[in-house]
Amino acid sequence: MDTVLSGIRPTGFLHLGNYFGALKNFIKMQDENRCFFFIADYHSLTTHPTPDNLSINIKNVLIDYLAAGLDPNKCDIYVQSDLPEVCELSLLLSMNVHVGELQRVASFKEKVRRQPNNVNAGLLTYPVLMASDILIHRADKVPVGKDQEQHLELTRDFAQRFNNLYGINYFKLPVAYNFGDNLIKIPGLDGSTKMSKSDNETSCIYLSDSPEVIRKKVMKAVSDSGPVTPETPKSQAVENLFSLMQAVSTPETVQFFEDEYHQCRIRYGDMKKQLATDIIQFAAPIYEKVLSLREQNDYLREVVAQGATHARENARKTIKDVREIIGIRPL
Ligand code: TYM
Repeated sequence: MDTVLSGIRPTGFLHLGNYFGALKNFIKMQDENRCFFFIADYHSLTTHPTPDNLSINIKNVLIDYLAAGLDPNKCDIYVQSDLPEVCELSLLLSMNVHVGELQRVASFKEKVRRQPNNVNAGLLTYPVLMASDILIHRADKVPVGKDQEQHLELTRDFAQRFNNLYGINYFKLPVAYNFGDNLIKIPGLDGSTKMSKSDNETSCIYLSDSPEVIRKKVMKAVSDSGPVTPETPKSQAVENLFSLMQAVSTPETVQFFEDEYHQCRIRYGDMKKQLATDIIQFAAPIYEKVLSLREQNDYLREVVAQGATHARENARKTIKDVREIIGIRPL
C-alpha cells in the first residue's frame, strides 16, 4: 500500500486550480492508499496573515476539503501546526541543504520579485519544510499541480542526500503525482497562465462560489476578437477558456467549440455560457456541502483532532528513527 500525502496553504478559499491540481487525484486515491491531507498553516506565515485571517482561512479550507470529497473515514486530515515533529525534521534536514540551492528555487525568486519588502528566511527555507511534510510520513506519491514540481525534485534530493550521508536507505524518494501523467496547471480567467488568488480575485473561481457568482466571473473572462483564418493561433486568453473547458466539460463539448474556432465562427459569449454551466454543474454540489458544513464546528474540530492523532503516530516514529540514525541517542 502506498502512502499518499498532499497539502494546501490556507490563504483563502480553494479555487479550481487547487481542486484539479491537488485534490481531485488525491480524492481518487483515498480507497486504496494510506492517505494524509493537511492544511499548511506554517507555510502560509511567509506572507504574514493577520491572526484572525489565519484561523478563519484554516476553517474555510477544511470545509472546502470536506465538501470537495475528502473523507475523514478514509484519510487523515490535519493542520500542519498540530504536528510539531515536522519542525524538528525540517531543522535536521536543513543541516544538509545549501543556501545557494534554495536561492535558486523558482518560487523563491518569484516571491523576491513580488514581495521585495518581505524576503523572510521562511521563504528561503520553504522547500525544506515542505520536504519535511512529505518525508515525515515517508510518502510515495504527492498529488500536486505543475507549480510544485520543483519542490518535489528538491524533496527527492534532500531525501537522497540524507540516505547517502548516513549510508542508509531510509527515506523513500517521493514523486509528484497525477493519474494523467502530466501535472496540471489551471489558468486564470484574466488571461494569466495560472489561476491564483494572489493575482486578481476575478481570475479565480472558488469551490465555494455560488452559481450566480460563477456565471458572472466566467462571462467577464478575457477573450479576443476571434480567429481570422482557420490557422489563427489561439491567444493565451482563449487557450485558457479551452483549458478550463477541458477540465469541466465533456470531450464532445470541447470538440464542438474547437470546430467552431477552426471554422472561424466561434462566439465566445456562447462558449462562456456553456463553460459557466459546466463549472456550475461541477461546483454546485460542493457549494451546497460548504453551506451545510459552516455551522458544524464540533464535527470540524473532531476531524482535525483525529487526523492529528494518527499523523503524529507516524511522525513520532520517523523522528525517533531519524534521531537514532543521526546519532541523537540516549547517553
Ligand atoms: P498552494 O497552497 O499554493 O496550492 C495547493 C495545491 O494546489 C495546486 N495549485 C494548482 N494546480 C493547478 N493549477 C493551478 N492554477 C493551481 N494553483 C494551485 C498546487 O500545485 C498545490 O498542489 N507548497 C504547497 C503547499 C504544501 C505542500 C506540502 C503540498 C506545503 N507542504 C507538501 C504538498 C506536499 C503550496 O504552496 O500549495
